[in-house]
Amino acid sequence: SDDVLVVFTPSGKRGRVPAGISVLDAARKLGVDLDSVCGGRGICSKCQVAPGAGQFAKHGIAMAPDALTAINEVEQRYDRLRGLQAGRRLGCQARLQSDAVIDVPPESQLHRQVIRKSASERVMVMDPAVRSYFIEVTQPSLHDPDSDFDRISSALAQQWQIEGLTADLPVLARIQKVLRKGDWQVTAIIGQAEGMAPRLIDLIPGFDQQPLLGLAVDLGTTTIAGHLVALDDGRVLASDGLMNPQIRFGEDLMSRVSYGMMNDSGAAEMTAAVRAGLGDLVARLADEAGVSARQIVDATIVCNPVMHHLLLGLDPVELGQAPFPPVVSDALSLPARDLEVPIHEAARIYILPLIAGHVGADAAAVVLSEQPQKSAAPVLVVDVGTNAELILGDETRVLACSSPTGPAFEGAQINNGQRAAPGAIERVRIDPVTKEPRFRVIGVESWSDEDGFEDAVKATGITGICGSGIIEIVAEMRIAGIIDRSGLIGSPEQTGTARCIPDGRTFSYLLHDGSETGGPRIAVTQGDIRAIQLAKSAVHAGARLLMDEFGIEEVDRVVLAGAFGAHISPLHALVLGMIPNCDPARVTSAGNAAGTGARMALCSRAARREIEAEVRRITRIETAIAPLFQQHFVAANGIPHATDAFDKLAG
Ligand code: FES
Repeated sequence: SDDVLVVFTPSGKRGRVPAGISVLDAARKLGVDLDSVCGGRGICSKCQVAPGAGQFAKHGIAMAPDALTAINEVEQRYDRLRGLQAGRRLGCQARLQSDAVIDVPPESQLHRQVIRKSASERVMVMDPAVRSYFIEVTQPSLHDPDSDFDRISSALAQQWQIEGLTADLPVLARIQKVLRKGDWQVTAIIGQAEGMAPRLIDLIPGFDQQPLLGLAVDLGTTTIAGHLVALDDGRVLASDGLMNPQIRFGEDLMSRVSYGMMNDSGAAEMTAAVRAGLGDLVARLADEAGVSARQIVDATIVCNPVMHHLLLGLDPVELGQAPFPPVVSDALSLPARDLEVPIHEAARIYILPLIAGHVGADAAAVVLSEQPQKSAAPVLVVDVGTNAELILGDETRVLACSSPTGPAFEGAQINNGQRAAPGAIERVRIDPVTKEPRFRVIGVESWSDEDGFEDAVKATGITGICGSGIIEIVAEMRIAGIIDRSGLIGSPEQTGTARCIPDGRTFSYLLHDGSETGGPRIAVTQGDIRAIQLAKSAVHAGARLLMDEFGIEEVDRVVLAGAFGAHISPLHALVLGMIPNCDPARVTSAGNAAGTGARMALCSRAARREIEAEVRRITRIETAIAPLFQQHFVAANGIPHATDAFDKLAG
């Protein structure tokens, strides 16, 4: 017959196709993922295949040497200009003459899979909302005087099955010139967001090789972090972060909300500040990657509800008081120019849905990244910042709440507290016998009691204690008997160390005396211990509340999310009681899970659908009105909380 059998690897998809069909068309017929940007014109080389590279025997096919047509002129030309790897063919040029096995190498797969480097190492499938398509547009004539836009629209419909094109004014203003400059051959950049008509984002003369770029932002209360991502394969081209310029209006969210309440133009000032911050971030990322910000054609943002409202220019006042209703909680897709973000002027920004008025899109991004809804046993995800966001779930259901920890874990309201930066003490050990401390400083490899430390630390100095250091020192002070169960620092007589020094009516523990060399004296005060007790009890009580609701006494594992979570020692967090009792080996860190979630939503429309559906199923628990919260909060005050972890550390 005139049919031939073709098997595609690695998908294993097979079927009979008419003899003489191109490999690209055969792939499309059989639903095989084979990329193409130029639509089979031999320009883009995205359709490369390796004929016969699969295992014939396994597929029961004998492949003749001339199963494919010989290399044609288009391929020869391509080979001359750009070089075609040995054994490779352009799928749009090679035609099937008899049975064949065709391998589709990873870089030719349209929805290529990307392994995410997170705790769970899951696979993500590339399915971006913006892609480019090469089209040939018919020229107008007196008999066919349709508009230029209609011509582009019907070329896309005929050549790529993209129907119902729309466009914004800035692009319309350019299309006449571009069509003529490209001699009616152009590359159309098309946005195909969920539930929206396809949009022409840009039109470029000829075949355009420049990769499309996307921006994923984790907009935090304290810092704004962003990744610049290539939309074809998800690789990160640049990452950077900066302070949220809103900090000058208040360190934490509540002080920003009250600034907005007290000043008529307060919210508007904060909106302008955060948008300017995003602008700076875009400029930095583009600069680092050596690209133009105009190449950024899609973006995603995750943030907490207050940042969400302030970014959008919505009044955050209602978020500051029960019952905390947000103006809008659904996922949003908004023109970048409305938010004054200086990326491509026709780009849209996708903002992940809020889970509730006090559990944000950042928590939704954490759910997307950590997938508690797919866990067989209950997993607790804790994202600690100025607020702790807590998610507890398994495949049956997912619960979420937030708990007001205050900024203590970020070093604020702590005598010698500071943010994690070079010079900050991040690890602490106290000898239980001598009560002498040793510590590590960010930016220095060695511990304070090791050779070379003195010299190494000169570059940064010892400037304060950051969040992870504070957690460790409080736990270590308890293990060494410097504080009692209630958190009270003992006198020199009680503790047997002169490092406990009188400080008003209480005592402080002297961690480091740098005064001789002009540095600060770093001490932990009774007030510091109290602030940490309040913060850790808030996290713990939130977790307990979720566990009550879930009907469990213990969680199977704990995931610490966020930049801070990545640096916490699980054992010390358990001793302190920041997290509920759990096998320390089952406490892991997910790094910046919110940022990972933002990147997933940028690379995959399926991820956007998934999180929108999942957020609707999440049960929100309100800590502020739960009567048991206060009870759990008080009960969580003592140290140690987890005695097994205490025994383990105390040796
Ligand atoms: Fe573009 Fe084959 S599809 S070169």
